[in-house]
Amino acid sequence: MPIALVSIYGSEKPVFEMHCRTLYRLLSERTVEQSISHREMPSFNKHVEFAESKPYKEWWIIYNGPRAVGAAYITHKNEIGLFIFKEFISKGYGSEALKFILNNNKHITFYANISPNNYKSINFFKKHGFLYFSDMEHVQYTYVYYSKTLYASPQLSQSESVHE
Ligand SMILES: CC(C)(COP(=O)(O)OP(=O)(O)OC[C@H]1O[C@@H](n2cnc3c(N)ncnc32)[C@H](O)[C@@H]1OP(=O)(O)O)[C@@H](O)C(=O)NCCC(=O)NCCS
Repeated sequence: MPIALVSIYGSEKPVFEMHCRTLYRLLSERTVEQSISHREMPSFNKHVEFAESKPYKEWWIIYNGPRAVGAAYITHKNEIGLFIFKEFISKGYGSEALKFILNNNKHITFYANISPNNYKSINFFKKHGFLYFSDMEHVQYTYVYYSKTLYASPQLSQSESVHE
C-alpha cells in the first residue's frame, strides 16, 4: 500500500494547523500503556505551541492517499516515535512508515522508547530488528536498531550492553 510521510515543519499556517489537529486527535487516542511523556491531555493551544517549537528533528503525518492514518517523528537523538490511528492499526501502515524512516535517514543507530506494558509495540519493534537496550526505572524500555551498513564493516561490532 502506498503511503506518504508528509513533514509538518515548514508548511503554511492553515496546513500546519490541520496537521496539529491530526496530531491532537492521535494524542487523544493514546492509552496509559502507550504513553510515556503525556500523562494528561494538553489543551489544543499548548499542543500547537509544542509543535511550533520543533521539538523533534522531523515530524511527519502518515498518509494513505488523502487519509491521515498516523504520525511519526525522529528526535535529535535518533529516537523514533510511531503512532497509528486505532481504526488503521494492523493494516501494515506502521511497518511501511518504519521502513521508510530506517531507509531514508543517514544514521547507523536508531532507538525506540516504549512503555514496558506496551507489549504490542515492543513486539512490533522487535519484529523489525530492534534489540532490547536499556530499562529506565521500569518507566520506559529502550530498543535499538543498528543499520545493516554498520555490520557491513568488519572493524565495528555490536555493543556488549545489548541483549535480546
Ligand atoms: C505499534 C504500531 C505503531 C504498529 O503499527 P501498525 O500499523 O499497527 O503495524 P503493522 O500493521 O505494520 O503490523 C502489525 C501487524 O499487522 C500485520 N499486517 C501487516 N500488514 C498487514 C495488512 N496489509 N493487513 C493486515 N495485517 C497486516 C503485521 O503482520 C503485524 O502482525 P503482528 O500483529 O502479528 O505483528 C501501532 O500499533 C500503534 O500505533 N500503536 C500505538 C502507539 C504506540 O504504542 N507506539 C509505539 C511507541 S513509539
